[in-house]
Amino acid sequence: MDATSAPRFPWDAGLYKDRHSFVWKYGTSAVDLLAPRPGERILDLGCGTGHLTARIAEAGARVVGIDSSAEMIAEARRGFPGLRFEVADARDFALDEPFDAVFSNAVLHWVKPPERAVACIRRSLAPGGRFVAELGGRGNVAAIVASLEAASGAMGVEGWEHPWYYPSIGEYAALLESDGLEVAQAVLFDRPTPLEGEDGLRSWVTMFARDLVERVPPDGREEFFGRVEESARGTLHRDGAWFADYRRLRIVARRVGSSPG
Ligand code: BEZ
Repeated sequence: MDATSAPRFPWDAGLYKDRHSFVWKYGTSAVDLLAPRPGERILDLGCGTGHLTARIAEAGARVVGIDSSAEMIAEARRGFPGLRFEVADARDFALDEPFDAVFSNAVLHWVKPPERAVACIRRSLAPGGRFVAELGGRGNVAAIVASLEAASGAMGVEGWEHPWYYPSIGEYAALLESDGLEVAQAVLFDRPTPLEGEDGLRSWVTMFARDLVERVPPDGREEFFGRVEESARGTLHRDGAWFADYRRLRIVARRVGSSPG
């Protein structure tokens, strides 16, 4: 899940597992798009708690999960002791074998600069190997970001730049093509995602915008969350529940050329 050094704090794997497991649950349909086959060598890039890695393994593929978060890898090893998981950075990894496919769910929007991840992905694929990914696309969580900016602006909290990269189809396809990957499918779609409980939005912010929350003095946090909720309520609260305004970009691409490396 965390494949970059962007967040300065360790991931709270417990909060992720308890309240944000929807991230990997929605990713199961991305595994369907991957369509893993028995015997294939597959890399799960940014595997988080390993649930999708396990799904891929269930199809009979030989899968390796990598994630830059030691906390997530520890959780994945606990949950799925029979599978291989390694700590590795999406911008700087090299594994000992070429893969038939690289899969990634809800990770690459954390990785900057994206060119470095794409170069590693291309190098890890065997010629003709496929890259199947879902990430936040252009406009992802725009209303959440606006409410975070409104609340932090009103309280004079400075210095937070949102850490995410949300490309358009054209931008991401151009990036892949410039590095020798041929794009076969690309789709950008809205996925309004229910956040459990009346504190659902603050739980999301605590989990995913921790760098910002930590900039707010502890005695101002209640006010901060109140402001975030007030600003987001008109757009993101309906029928008694909070929603995150996710927009997903799904990509299927293939490594072109026949020479390795
Ligand atoms: C996402 O999956 O789109 C996402 C998750 C956490 C923070 C920002 C975006």
